[in-house]
Amino acid sequence: MKFSSKMKRCGLSPMRKFNGYAANAEARGINIYHLNIGQPDIHTPKAYYDSLRDYSDPVIAYAPSQGIPVLQDAVCRYYSGIGVTLERKDILIATGGSEALQMAIASILDDGDEILIPEPFYPNYHTAVTLAGAFVHPIPTSAPEDGYRFASRENIEPLINEHTRAIMITNPGNPTGTVLSREELGLLLDIAKEHDLFILCDEVYREFVYGGEPLLSALQYPGYEDNLIVIDSVSKRFSACGARIGILISKNEEFMSEALKWCQCRLAVSSTDQVAAAALYSVGSDYFAAVREEYKARRDAMVEKLEQIPGVQFARPEGAFYIMAALPVDDADKFQLWLLNEFDDNGDTVMFACGEPFYATPGRGINEVRMAYVLKKEDLERALDVLKVALEKYNKQL
Ligand SMILES: Cc1ncc(COP(=O)(O)O)c(C=O)c1O
Repeated sequence: MKFSSKMKRCGLSPMRKFNGYAANAEARGINIYHLNIGQPDIHTPKAYYDSLRDYSDPVIAYAPSQGIPVLQDAVCRYYSGIGVTLERKDILIATGGSEALQMAIASILDDGDEILIPEPFYPNYHTAVTLAGAFVHPIPTSAPEDGYRFASRENIEPLINEHTRAIMITNPGNPTGTVLSREELGLLLDIAKEHDLFILCDEVYREFVYGGEPLLSALQYPGYEDNLIVIDSVSKRFSACGARIGILISKNEEFMSEALKWCQCRLAVSSTDQVAAAALYSVGSDYFAAVREEYKARRDAMVEKLEQIPGVQFARPEGAFYIMAALPVDDADKFQLWLLNEFDDNGDTVMFACGEPFYATPGRGINEVRMAYVLKKEDLERALDVLKVALEKYNKQL
């Protein structure tokens, strides 16, 4: 049988590809600290469950393809809280930020087009771009050379060519934790506008910034309405990853009518989840402040522990809940397999997302891993103690 050549060019998600080995290790009684996936342990607000319990429509009917008005209005209210005026027509509800991302990319990229993305990047971007027949043109960054800061004309403008259609950024960054300054984001928007490019801003981690800075959205900048597409989601913001509710936002009406074709093709997003997701927006700023403090403490604990492991290189993250680190190993995939198949420290081992798929440049990321600080502080500390022991043992046996 013949398969899609575009799908053949895609890889499995590095967050999930070792799950089979993990299941085997767990069946042998090994406890795994899962730092591989951004699945927080913070409880989802009670409002979500209350709303589900109260759901009483006699038929679970198809929702409107663009999303239910009550959720669109809740999103508008959230954005008005950060000084952004949105209307329902600026919002399409999606099955997770993942679907919002896929429909945006499918709407703007053609075969052979290029999209500029700072690397390391969230690997699922690469899959969505490849399925559109387009290519990721990486803007290289690294912890030791530039601390993952990329937003300058010198870095970006020489990479723009006749195939470039868009710039994609994640702010705060996954996997780097980099938070763009107001000036850096303004510059990226300027570059996009001057070169007639779309700028896709993935802001699913917007609330997770640890330097006391005000919440920043590209939507706060006037004058970029034709260029700007924002990806948003309830998954991380409200610790509701399984709700599968994302949001695509743009004031470019032509873009929105193209993306609506995707929405109509997949008919609708879950009716019950949309209603319950709307209820999530009733949480107050004290909820976000408490969650932010919790992640900040976890970030600090991770950084302190990582600094004690010889040969590990990383940049201190300023936001989101990930750390990208180069480990003193030959190959992170091999190390991960060994951790799952051959190693334990008093019954414990650890799992990360291995680094290569976070890059488009061949050969980069081979000895790197992304760690998600989504577990309790004590668990993170134990996980990094396990990592330290594992690195000593792994390198001794080579
Ligand atoms: C940067 C980024 N964008 C988008 C998503 C998609 O999230 P979801 O589909 O759960 O909304 C994720 C999930 O981890 C992410 O890290």
